[in-house]
Amino acid sequence: MNILMTAAETAPIAKAGGLGDMVFSLSKVLRSEGHDVRIILPLYRSIRPKLNGADKEILRFMVKYREKSRRVTIRSWKIEGIPLYLVDCKHYYDREGIYGPSADSGYDDNLERFILLCHSAMKLIEKDIWIPDIIHAHDWHAALLPALLYQRSMIKPDSPKIKSLLTVHNMAFQGEAPMDDFALTGLNTELFPRENIKFYGRLNLLKLGIIYSDKLTAVSPTYREETLTDEINGAGLNDTLSSRGDDYSGILNGIDHEYWSPNEDKHLPFILKSDWTEFKASNKQAMIDELKLSGGIEKPLIGVVSRLSWQKGIDLLFECVPKILKDANLVVLGSGNKKYEDRLSGLAGENADSMFFDAAFNEPLAHRIYAASDMFLIPSRYEPCGLTQMIALRYGSIPIVHSVGGLADTIIDYNEDADNGNGFAFKDFNKFSLIDKITAALEFFRDQDSWNILLKRANKSDFSWNRSAKRYIKIYNDLTGAN
Ligand code: ADP
Ligand code: GLC
Repeated sequence: MNILMTAAETAPIAKAGGLGDMVFSLSKVLRSEGHDVRIILPLYRSIRPKLNGADKEILRFMVKYREKSRRVTIRSWKIEGIPLYLVDCKHYYDREGIYGPSADSGYDDNLERFILLCHSAMKLIEKDIWIPDIIHAHDWHAALLPALLYQRSMIKPDSPKIKSLLTVHNMAFQGEAPMDDFALTGLNTELFPRENIKFYGRLNLLKLGIIYSDKLTAVSPTYREETLTDEINGAGLNDTLSSRGDDYSGILNGIDHEYWSPNEDKHLPFILKSDWTEFKASNKQAMIDELKLSGGIEKPLIGVVSRLSWQKGIDLLFECVPKILKDANLVVLGSGNKKYEDRLSGLAGENADSMFFDAAFNEPLAHRIYAASDMFLIPSRYEPCGLTQMIALRYGSIPIVHSVGGLADTIIDYNEDADNGNGFAFKDFNKFSLIDKITAALEFFRDQDSWNILLKRANKSDFSWNRSAKRYIKIYNDLTGAN
């Protein structure tokens, strides 16, 4: 089957978070199952130096947005055997960041930037460059595509049928704009009832995608439920999602076990040979030396690798820092909200021997933190899926999480279920609950025999794509009638 993944990110070349990981790892596993999966994404400035002249120009066209014409070239390229279509438009994409000049801000013209991504995917089809059976659209950046496909099927009923699947990774971002911007979409108003386009008087691309996609998925079963029933998670679109009923399913993401592999991770000072205790101790000692932390390897090390946003519950983390630093070292890697960055820098400055903070996006350091830490903190307010708890488990770092969304689907609290527990999970989003769980984890750590039980369980947990990819393939098959 031909599947065109359309997204703003793909690992390893353009990643701001889990979206990039998910798009790439799912594509990889689908290709290994024999499907022709290709990914279309913008040619960001950061990708350009990696091309090394190996890209091929395959299509040129012009677009006119807001009375200005822009030249667009689509280039084909490959990464780890996956064909990519890179949308080259210097005006929109030759910039510092993926979404904005810093992790804390978005570009003013993001609507046009991602509408151009959708129009480019349609051009591939119109110009007969490559015809997918399925367009798998991710998040609001690609959510216009289902509506464009619907329009195409209305205008050209005899053209080959292309089905659409929209995966929602985060309902909080919807591609909203004043209604005047509707003209940018290229949709014909006569085909689209106003109530399908508008949300509180504004254009909303995610809403359009939810209504016009053939099928929908959320990135975990619990997040699916939460988007239907909970106001924060549904972000106002609960009823629109409910109206899609059986077409909407929740599929837990997987992680790429080849990439996130403690046995051969090139970013680690020490890889896993066979002994977990030795793997953890050597990586932890290396981090203690690198960051000049106090206490030696007996002192627990708690890691955090996160976007610094409201979603991630970073404000709750601040409140627990004094408690954490009494008994443990804390290493935080993350960028985003400037106020959070400043506060964390301040705390790390005041407690230099027990806390380290790096306000950066640093892939190698992230790997070292997963490997060196004993516990991994994820106090997210909401979490559609979350990949860091899966990665942490793979590297023997025991997650302490707020039990919501995908975190609830992956982490079983050890205190509640000692036979299956693989971490520590709190239900109420407040500092007392978080501190309780941190305390429980630290106490547990003191008894190294018990801790080793958790380590072994972490080692066994399998969040590879094996199961979930099959569920995506089933949806593709249902859509195309391939079953
Ligand atoms: P989200 O997509 O909401 O940010 P996920 O848990 O799904 O959260 O995925 C986060 C991904 O981004 C993981 O691969 C994690 O290791 C990575 N990541 C997050 N922040 C950083 C950072 N500052 N430096 C390096 N990697 C990071
Ligand atoms: C979003 C969500 C995160 C999820 C990721 C990949 O960034 O915030 O929970 O893991 O997408 O689906």
